[in-house]
Amino acid sequence: MSKGLRKGLTSYGDAGFSLFLRKAFIKAMGYSDDALNRPIVGITNTYSDYNPCHGNGPALVEAAKRGVMLAGAMPMVFPTISIHESFAHPTSMFLRNLMAMDTEEMIRAQPMDAVIVIGGCDKTLPAQIMAAASVDLPTVVIPVGPMVVGHHKGEVLGACTDCRRLWAAHRAGAIDEQEIEMVNGRLAPSVGTCMVMGTASTMACLTEAMGLSLPLSATIPAPHAERVRLAEASGRRAAEMAVAGGPRPSAILTPAAFRNAQTVLQAIGGSTNGLIHLTAIARRVRAEIDLDAFDAIGRAVPVLVDLKPSGDHYMEHFHHAGGVPRLLAELGDLIDLDVPTVAGEKLRDVVAAAEIVPGQTVIRSPADPIKPTGGLAVLRGNLAPRGALIKHAAASERLLQHTGRALVFESIPEMAARIDDPDLDVSPDDVLVLCNAGPKGAPGMPEAGYLPIPKKLARQGVKDMVRISDARMSGTAFGTIVLHVTPESAVGGPLALVRTGDRIRLDVAGRRIDLLVDEAELARRAAALPAPPRPAWAERGYARLFHDTVTQADEGCDFDFMRPGGAAQGN
Ligand code: FES
Ligand code: MG
Repeated sequence: MSKGLRKGLTSYGDAGFSLFLRKAFIKAMGYSDDALNRPIVGITNTYSDYNPCHGNGPALVEAAKRGVMLAGAMPMVFPTISIHESFAHPTSMFLRNLMAMDTEEMIRAQPMDAVIVIGGCDKTLPAQIMAAASVDLPTVVIPVGPMVVGHHKGEVLGACTDCRRLWAAHRAGAIDEQEIEMVNGRLAPSVGTCMVMGTASTMACLTEAMGLSLPLSATIPAPHAERVRLAEASGRRAAEMAVAGGPRPSAILTPAAFRNAQTVLQAIGGSTNGLIHLTAIARRVRAEIDLDAFDAIGRAVPVLVDLKPSGDHYMEHFHHAGGVPRLLAELGDLIDLDVPTVAGEKLRDVVAAAEIVPGQTVIRSPADPIKPTGGLAVLRGNLAPRGALIKHAAASERLLQHTGRALVFESIPEMAARIDDPDLDVSPDDVLVLCNAGPKGAPGMPEAGYLPIPKKLARQGVKDMVRISDARMSGTAFGTIVLHVTPESAVGGPLALVRTGDRIRLDVAGRRIDLLVDEAELARRAAALPAPPRPAWAERGYARLFHDTVTQADEGCDFDFMRPGGAAQGN
């Protein structure tokens, strides 16, 4: 039975008076007793003038409210912080854990029997699901949905894979100032999240595959009427879940659901960031994402979805081809169909209802995959004892086995200052190394892993080089880029030991990344590393909390005390 307004009442010995007071205040909003006596569904509002990805938020909130009311419950909308990739200094990842805390505490603080979280820009669904997993109230996720595609000179454009490609063409002198300005107005033609298989799309697909959102919620374009109806249906389900008391995230976020999510992450050629977020979510419910198991899934699971940046199409095409239910159907035995979903049925029922679209080419079958194995591989070696990641689906085939001379940049500012220097001593076979760009180093592990090709090489037509860092990379980027090197250089990881001129060997088939310097020399360099002081940016406030407690990439970059049981449970 729902508790409605009584939930979380602090009585100080007089429960009747506390409820009386609570009702007296909320009645100032004009609610009737009938409204206040119903089960309550909280709805997060992450609309912000700074967040175009959530620009359809108000319409989705209204539709979700309608659905809640049609099912006889009472919707209560409340704000939480909103994070957009472009307006989140120093980086959105720095703020993800803050949003997770804010969302968790506001769900806990206010009376509600179920909650709907509405988000989508890269860090927001992870933050909201981390929160929901910790609170464990019945939860329905409504992603805001992807943008529709843009067009330029007869070409289809996607944010922001084509932002990078066209900017690189501009840097190389192939596109002039006037045209790049025109392109700028066409890359993001509607509200909604980036419509390639970037982090936002990846997380929406994983959320749907895990059963936390209704079928097709990942792919319906943000401006479509169908998405508004999906929000209404989500409102109805949340109201039913408020009355029934479930299913709760703890019933949905099972090891089988996490395995399904990892399978889907590989099959969609998803964002490298997806792995960090999935790890953070899993650790909120005492589960683990094992990197070697993830790599093994990647060797067994083909890439079936033909989307940028590793393929050709965009989210709306994925949707019109049948979306995630169709993909799950194609994955067959690789998916555990006996897991529950917020739709009130098993994943098996969702898959049974998947649409078959004749002639579509966006979702392939395992007999005719985009790539025979998954898009992401886990690397280990003396350069990454706790792992590193490469999105080999979006890398250059010829560089997947490569030995080259290291060219080291000690920090992002140093890299920015030197990379376009015409006198930079660099050749196309060199390996660009960026240090101090990890969770503590930068801070917040910015998406700096996509190091630009040095201008003098770009002008010669060089489009890809091996690049290595402890940073992340946008899911919309491409290239032979080794990311998430763990432990990071700022805490003394081996990346800090690389010197310009050393040789580095990348062996993706063997899943290795090694610095070809002998042990004794590495030990000598390690002994000479100074103990890092607390940096100036981390002296106070949230930054200090972040610096002192953020975990490494293999632990999801959550704060170490956010696991059930707190930091004492070990990280
Ligand atoms: Fe929001 Fe890409 S900027 S999803
Ligand atoms: Mg992104």
